Amino acid sequence: MQLPELPEPLASFQPEIGLILGSGLGFFADDRIEVAGRLPYSEIEGFPVSTVEGHAGQFVYGTVEEKRVICMQGRFHFYEGYSMAEVTKPIRLMHALGVRTLYITNAAGGIHPDFVSGDFMLLSDHINALGTNPLIGWQGKEGVPFPDMTEVYDRSLRRGLHAWAASQGVGLREGVYLATTGPSFETPAEVRAFAKLGADAVGMSTVPEAIVARKLAMRVLAISCITNAAAGISKTPLTHEEVTETAGRVRPQFADLLTAAIALA
Ligand code: HPA
Repeated sequence: MQLPELPEPLASFQPEIGLILGSGLGFFADDRIEVAGRLPYSEIEGFPVSTVEGHAGQFVYGTVEEKRVICMQGRFHFYEGYSMAEVTKPIRLMHALGVRTLYITNAAGGIHPDFVSGDFMLLSDHINALGTNPLIGWQGKEGVPFPDMTEVYDRSLRRGLHAWAASQGVGLREGVYLATTGPSFETPAEVRAFAKLGADAVGMSTVPEAIVARKLAMRVLAISCITNAAAGISKTPLTHEEVTETAGRVRPQFADLLTAAIALA
């Protein structure tokens, strides 16, 4: 796959860590990154353009805790009509820039009965219920043809973040994330089925990016912000506004958690 040429100073910035900021979580780039530069996706040749409200659609790069990071303020979702190759193109681009550790964030619906809105969940594993795989038709020589998925989400990064959370008295859950295509939310019957399959949370992202990152042998850590109880567990209809409202409410806690995670890398 042909990757676009990037302009300076980004081309020689050499970020170590990539961050993907999910729905309502894009503020992290403005709040916590010592910004060296920004590059709107619209200025990158052949790049998709993010269409969802609450997603700015740009790379923001700079430093956090003295580590060089490049952050996606806005990601691409399969439900926007992009191909899997387009959804995961930024991961390949970040890898080409030098990123070897990827932090993925998302908003998710809580399935586990103990989860409440505003909780944070580290992904221990995932279930790909997208009906496709981003490595189908892979163009490129990187990685092995059949990448192992035994430990997608790096155990030592998870352990480190749990230790930080315990020392700070911050609640941090861990569980299995199931990815659906969306954009409709799930039915209550689907949520009951997903619970039986072993899912603790459900969302519409993350899994494509995580699979491609593992193909490229990157270390991956992923954090869900549980923005709502999943359909049927919640007694009220779900809305995108509820998702962004919860994400906004936990803004400082989320920023502290992600900053601590970056310090660990
Ligand atoms: N389902 C799917 N995706 C989501 C949800 C949900 O309940 N909340 C935030 N993203």
